[in-house]
Amino acid sequence: MRLSASLPLAALAIIVFASAPKAQPAPPQVVVAATPPMGWNSWNYFAGKVTDKDIRDSADQIAANGMRDAGYIYVNIDDTWEGERDASGVLHTNSKFPDMKALADYVHSKGLKLGIYSGPGTKTCARYPASLGHEEQDAKMYADWGIDYLKYDLCSFIPDVMQKQAPNDKAEQMRLMVAAYEKMGKALKATGRPIVYSLCQYGWDSVWEWAPALGGNLWRTTGDIEARWGSIYDILSEQRGLASYAGPGHWNDPDMLEVGNGKLSLAENRSHFSMWAMLAAPLLAGNDLPNMKPEIKDILTNRDVIAIDQDSLGKQAGHIYSNGEVEVWARDLKDGAKAIAILNAGSDVYSTHPFHLDLAKLGLHGSQKAKDLWTGKEIELTNNMPLELASHDILLVRIAAPK
Ligand code: GLA
Repeated sequence: MRLSASLPLAALAIIVFASAPKAQPAPPQVVVAATPPMGWNSWNYFAGKVTDKDIRDSADQIAANGMRDAGYIYVNIDDTWEGERDASGVLHTNSKFPDMKALADYVHSKGLKLGIYSGPGTKTCARYPASLGHEEQDAKMYADWGIDYLKYDLCSFIPDVMQKQAPNDKAEQMRLMVAAYEKMGKALKATGRPIVYSLCQYGWDSVWEWAPALGGNLWRTTGDIEARWGSIYDILSEQRGLASYAGPGHWNDPDMLEVGNGKLSLAENRSHFSMWAMLAAPLLAGNDLPNMKPEIKDILTNRDVIAIDQDSLGKQAGHIYSNGEVEVWARDLKDGAKAIAILNAGSDVYSTHPFHLDLAKLGLHGSQKAKDLWTGKEIELTNNMPLELASHDILLVRIAAPK
């Protein structure tokens, strides 16, 4: 009885559907940061000294030295480009950046994109004017200039707003912070220009849980990186447990690269770059490009390692196990492939006591054909094989067909 009563309705639905005009295929959606953003940022090397010329020189280098072709597309101006706001609230550049639109045109003419920096408070971290109360105006100006990427840094919002409006109320302070990031997220969206939105608030209040919903494409997970192994390793350790939050369009950001900076050894530079690739981290170089040593360029442009970072599945590596000071991290790649990194975080592991690889802990059975991504050679991984890694060095392999 019930069945027959519902039949005419179903038939009607079929007729309505059949006679409806065919739906047009939806226009392809631009996914901003479908893979982790790659580029270069001025802060780690130039800090407050960066000028228009440094940005142009860096763009020239990236276009000419193979970095652009390896995927480094964003040239990001960090803090200290800002001048004063005029009576109508328009923020002008300072004398180091005479014409931002012309700079954007120049960077674009090299097949690259331009990034900029601000924050939700009254002042940036270097105490230049930031965007509080001018969010829409600033976002529109960035879009008019042709900006493609905004790093938005919390800094003075903490005393300016959070501590002032909600003294002694941590939860309310966090709500104010989230609202400030949401405000700029909306302002950027309203411009209609695809602008990568990079949250920089040092990982507070589990940012990975709320940033994607308000348009964040990446979010810093920690405090600032420094060009020394201790800093790099501490940040790496803080990424454990965050893998599930990363994916196409939204990435954990363990901060920009220090490859080529400070006194990092070659092994440390290699390990830093390898682990950032394993973490599906944004790869934003931060070195002195016109004076880059060939061995540093070889690290930054290693296509096999970059391909791990840029894998379209977007699955960030997890820490699988440690044995003493040796750590094993792994990530799944498209087409069933797998990347494995074995890092000697300690000061030495020699033949008197080498590390032994446990394939079962990686879900692997029997010997595996792999490619060593730093030598480029095919190698065979066998269960319990002894591995000697120099201090702070890494074995990074890709297994095309794991068993
Ligand atoms: C903060 C950020 C850095 C850099 C500086 C600029 O410390 O975390 O990455 O942007 O501000 O002042």
